Amino acid sequence: MDYPAVLQEIQARIQPLLGQGEVAHYIPELARVDARQFGMAVVRLDGEVHSVGAAQTRFSIQSISKLFALVLALQRHGEALWQRVGREPSGTPFNSLVQLEHEAGRPRNPFINAGALVITDILCTRFATPENAVVEFLRQLANEPEIHYDRRVARSERACSDRNAAMAHFIKSFGNLHNPVDEVLDAYCRHCAIEMNCVELARAVSFLAHRGRLPWNGQEILSESAAKRLSALMLTCGTYDSAGDFAFRVGLPAKSGVGGGIVALVPGECGVCVWSPGLEPSGNSLVGSQALELFTTLTGRSVF
Ligand code: DON
Repeated sequence: MDYPAVLQEIQARIQPLLGQGEVAHYIPELARVDARQFGMAVVRLDGEVHSVGAAQTRFSIQSISKLFALVLALQRHGEALWQRVGREPSGTPFNSLVQLEHEAGRPRNPFINAGALVITDILCTRFATPENAVVEFLRQLANEPEIHYDRRVARSERACSDRNAAMAHFIKSFGNLHNPVDEVLDAYCRHCAIEMNCVELARAVSFLAHRGRLPWNGQEILSESAAKRLSALMLTCGTYDSAGDFAFRVGLPAKSGVGGGIVALVPGECGVCVWSPGLEPSGNSLVGSQALELFTTLTGRSVF
């Protein structure tokens, strides 16, 4: 597969779309980001890296951290985790509260905010500083020691987190949050504020394309079965209430964040990450979704 040519073509074809979509205004620090940026990287399982555009520019990974927080929670807490969070697409916006009342505080899936708060609560029980545990984990997965979270972005979101706070209190009223709400929100806003670039994120997700093992040394991060299940969950829930449309257009397991990043993977082949900060109404990168659609169209590499 001629990935350099594919990435060049994608970059050329998305040019007219650059700047479309809205940056995440509800987090003040993210509202200042230039929406016209674009980067994309492919990291193959043999270690070959291909990239275009601003693939080395770090950005706020936001909800992409929910994927890695979940993997860490699965490692530490195991399958019992599924008693506290479901595995069904929500069909509602990522920050919605509406299903929680009917479903007794058990969030539909770990990728919507409600589910990620429960996963963060599990990490709060297991680690003294859960955000540092997620950072450390990402350093291992990306094979890159200089990964950090941005304190300004974390503070900026924390200062405006009324909606997530409401959600956390509501979940706690059903007994599905065990730690103090403030602690869970602090840890959550910090792991969402981790900064990485496309190359680092494409490498960090590549173990899922390699049956749960790090491609460069074979170390098991998740069992083959758990990695398969997680990829399925990314396909069905990773892009929120656009997950159906995203599967229709792209056909790859993926996880998005309101910083404009989307990670995806081609099983047995590579990790992929695209970044462009303008978002469509569901909160997924508009140009990023289009770039991934072009990627599977041009390469014929999708899971279907
Ligand atoms: O809690 C929030 O709203 C953000 N920290 C993360 C949301 C997000 O990235 C949704 N993704 N598309």
